[in-house]
Amino acid sequence: MTSSLVVNNLSKRFGDFIAVDNIDLELQPGEIFGLLGPNAAGKTTTIRMLSGIIRPSGGTANILGFDLFDDLESIKSRIGYVAQYFALYPELTVTENLSFYSGIYGVDDSQRQTDLLEQYGLNQFADRYAGQLSGGYKRRLSMVCALCHDPELVFLDEPTAGIDPVTRKELWDLFYELAMAGKTLFVTTHYMEEAERCHQLAFLSHGKRVAQGTPDEIRRMLVHKQIYTFSAGKDMAMLKALPRLEGVDLINRFGNSIRVVADDSLTLEKLAGFLAEWPGEEYEPVQTTANLEDVFITLTSGEPS
Ligand SMILES: Nc1ncnc2c1ncn2[C@@H]1O[C@H](COP(=O)(O)OP(=O)(O)OP(=O)(O)O)[C@@H](O)[C@H]1O
Ligand SMILES: [Mg+2]
Repeated sequence: MTSSLVVNNLSKRFGDFIAVDNIDLELQPGEIFGLLGPNAAGKTTTIRMLSGIIRPSGGTANILGFDLFDDLESIKSRIGYVAQYFALYPELTVTENLSFYSGIYGVDDSQRQTDLLEQYGLNQFADRYAGQLSGGYKRRLSMVCALCHDPELVFLDEPTAGIDPVTRKELWDLFYELAMAGKTLFVTTHYMEEAERCHQLAFLSHGKRVAQGTPDEIRRMLVHKQIYTFSAGKDMAMLKALPRLEGVDLINRFGNSIRVVADDSLTLEKLAGFLAEWPGEEYEPVQTTANLEDVFITLTSGEPS
């Protein structure tokens, strides 16, 4: 199978600052690929390079069989791009925006436009100004405009940021439909639950790729760590002392549930012994396996190396 996208040593400098640092990526047709990283990790910059908006400082990229440096126009006609921030015309209606973008791509197919509006639930708002749509429907319109020319590869930069869980699920159902039709989706997100939905993932930290693989493969990156979880109330003194316990790398709190990522020096017995020293509450720590967030925070929370 020919890869949809192959990137080697891609980098981007802004003056002395390296925003994307020699990354390698490979995406297959029909795959939803998720790129995750903290704010300023270089996700948008990567997408902007791969969709031909800004020029890379170095590296190579083959997209849908075309070279990013030599054949950008062939690539542009075959990809879609949904920007992180709303980039449509607020003073044009939904239909006018879609017609405008279809015109740019030379697609004169009013039936396709009607079908897209219906598929994305936008026909009810066909005559509404884009600027007056709710956030979720603005995202849908951005997607519809990016899909008007039936691209093979779609870049979606935080397509579900600020979207409610029901609408988010509906958008993901549409992403899966596109993937099942053989399209490749390159998605950025800050939601771990969305990372779980991707076929392949890469994590970026300070412009560097620090993890890549399926969600299962990425979870296994912490097999050498000990992961514990227990329920805790409001013993602030215990919670303050816990990060200083020997071997603890990371504490992550979800309401009353505490997750501890530690090295081998912290056994379950040692943790139970530490917790038993705090009067008032009975803690029952258990060993568990890493989730994606454990890996993400462990790999991306440090200073640049
Ligand atoms: N045109 C530019 N000139 C200078 N620095 C830039 C430029 N564009 C991006 N950067 C810097 O590159 C770094 C990566 O930015 P980028 O927008 O790619 O991050 P991101 O991972 O998309 O973050 P977020 O999650 O906040 O969207 C940031 O430090 C940003 O300030
Ligand atoms: Mg971004």
